[in-house]
Amino acid sequence: MTDKLLSESLDSIKNCSSSTELEELRVAILGKKGSLTEALKALGQASPEERKTLGANLNQIKQEITDALEAKKASLADIELGARLVTEKLDVTLPANPESCGKIHPITQVTEEITAIFADLGFSVADGPDIEDDEHNFSALNIPESHPARQMHDTFYLQGKGDNKTVLRTHTSPVQIRTMRAGKPPFRFIAMGSTYRCDSDLTHTPMFHQIEGLVIDKNINMGHLKGCINEFLRVFFELDELPMRFRPSFFPFTEPSAEVDIGCERSKDSLKIGAGSDWLEIGGCGMVHPNVLKNCNIDPNEWQGFAFGMGIERLAMLKYGIPDLRTFFESDARWLSHYGFDPLHIPNLVGGL
Ligand code: PHE
Repeated sequence: MTDKLLSESLDSIKNCSSSTELEELRVAILGKKGSLTEALKALGQASPEERKTLGANLNQIKQEITDALEAKKASLADIELGARLVTEKLDVTLPANPESCGKIHPITQVTEEITAIFADLGFSVADGPDIEDDEHNFSALNIPESHPARQMHDTFYLQGKGDNKTVLRTHTSPVQIRTMRAGKPPFRFIAMGSTYRCDSDLTHTPMFHQIEGLVIDKNINMGHLKGCINEFLRVFFELDELPMRFRPSFFPFTEPSAEVDIGCERSKDSLKIGAGSDWLEIGGCGMVHPNVLKNCNIDPNEWQGFAFGMGIERLAMLKYGIPDLRTFFESDARWLSHYGFDPLHIPNLVGGL
């Protein structure tokens, strides 16, 4: 009877094909109501002699079964691990999850490009406040009160302080006054930043950006002005040659004054900067008016110079093919991911100076 129990148990253990099945089998043999447990319980009914041999026999069987269970358990674990390793493969060639990265706004990008080009031409960068007073925005720039040029600017007026009212600066030219008053000639700097005019339509936004340039030195003439603007625009638009013309114009703070046009080719739905049959206005400029120099305690008989101003949005739209001005300030993340620049994009100045 014990031999049968042993051989049957060992057979079942041998034929077992999974660890769950093996566990069920262990309970069926060694559990509370298991076949071997029952046999051990039955020992109580046996005579003392029988009990001695039968007891030893059953303990021997129990040891053999326990060893067989242990061995089978280990081999099944090995097989099951092998099977898992075959099915659960790790693909180390899978690409990593993409990381999202912010973009640089075209205004910031173009501002950096402009700074780099003018730095190569020996210009430093000057700065001034967005909230200006009447004196710096107008009077010192030779735009007296009641001068019609004030109306040209569609000024945002702020709460006035006495005689000197404050405004949101309508151009970057007040930085000319601030920088000249704070230093001594010669000067060679650019100033960039936000400017404001009460104007809003397809081609105007109430806030926009300008780049201003000022050079004050001895024996400066209009040829220097033309060469400087042409060199900047040629490098900015990455062109070997860029046709350019000056059209007579008027600004109270420059005399003579000119509007700057660059060559372009217009077709039905494209605009190409460079040699072509059309002209495109890109900014204003002129020789600094003697009154402006006097207002900054600079002797116009000793020093003269030139100034120029351009719209940064316009430069960005033309260089990067951005069709609509208003989209610059809509804060649309899709627009920015399309027209924006990678943070490590270094300004491309091929065709350099
Ligand atoms: N400040 C002028 C404007 O905003 C531009 C300009 C700057 C013209 C410097 C001449 C010289 O219209």
